[in-house]
Amino acid sequence: MPTQRVFSGIQPSGIPQLGNYLGAIRHWVRLQSDYSCLFCLVDMHAITVWQNPEELRHHTLTQAAVLLASGIDAQKHILFNQSAVFAHARLGWIFNCITRLGWLNRMTQFKDKTGKDRENYSSGLYVYPNLMAADILAYKATHVPVGEDQKQHLELTNDIAQKFNHDYSVAFFPQVKPLIPPTAARIMSLRDGTKKMSKSDPSSQSRIDLTDDADTIRLKIRRAKTDTAPLPDHSNDLTERPEAKNLVSIYAALTNTTIDHVLETYQGKGFSVFKEDLTEVVINAIVPIGQEAIRLLKNETYLLEILRNGADRASTLANPVVSEVEKIVGFLS
Ligand code: TYM
Repeated sequence: MPTQRVFSGIQPSGIPQLGNYLGAIRHWVRLQSDYSCLFCLVDMHAITVWQNPEELRHHTLTQAAVLLASGIDAQKHILFNQSAVFAHARLGWIFNCITRLGWLNRMTQFKDKTGKDRENYSSGLYVYPNLMAADILAYKATHVPVGEDQKQHLELTNDIAQKFNHDYSVAFFPQVKPLIPPTAARIMSLRDGTKKMSKSDPSSQSRIDLTDDADTIRLKIRRAKTDTAPLPDHSNDLTERPEAKNLVSIYAALTNTTIDHVLETYQGKGFSVFKEDLTEVVINAIVPIGQEAIRLLKNETYLLEILRNGADRASTLANPVVSEVEKIVGFLS
């Protein structure tokens, strides 16, 4: 049986937030017992929109610290930053030449990010999904755990793999399987239940950062937007109440239960009671991770060493794959 390999990535464009944790990171931690895994801090993706260089460096180290603090095992598995492994850029370019413009024009994330101002965004942001496909396929990864917002990019990855195999008459790249969690696959902003929670949102009140302390979390949840009605007894009655649904989803995800089960306890109650309990649940899950991450961040040399070691091991896996691709394409070796 071929290796069952997990690959996933996170952009160091800010401090990881609760959505990253519930949609991705905590599943990465669990998958470590069944798969051989690579976790990548995708700094090359981050610069598709402007990043202050000092902040990019700081956020990359912070993300490494948060992942380790969450339970990523960098000895058994591989944790590294993308730009340190040249194979990603080499394969990314080849995929730029495989993907059709029509495919990229359908990417909803690009449309959402750029809105009416498309002409002013970088060409890197436009071809971003090709680099993402390269990240995964440079390792011939088979499983990719992500939040729901990445689903379309993974479908594109499979289209690219298939077109490459077809154009060069090879059976080289596998099809990848997205692993999307059944609950909390899309955590929304605390200020606007129709917008995704995001580490790059200008309002820090819209999200819970994984390094927030208990008081900050308390304040953010107290200020989180809600409505005036009490909680209903069934999840169907939350469809028109995005902010309420979001908070209940967070509670359900962190207590490993369903939205309906949470509503059994809180039906008829108002948000003051629910928010207080939610605050405790969030603090218990997040604060120990944040504290450990802050402790690890004090030892930059240690973090750099882990990432360097990860990049060496990742290169050993990816280089032969990408060299083989270059041979298939007809590059001199
Ligand atoms: P990024 O950095 O936006 O997010 C990292 C992971 O967190 C998930 N996520 C969320 N899940 C639930 N609710 C939210 N509000 C939320 N926000 C983010 C994302 O789905 C993701 O799983 N393009 C990717 C990074 C990437 C990648 C890859 C992922 C680059 N190459 C290869 C997988 C495989 C991104 O921007 O993630």
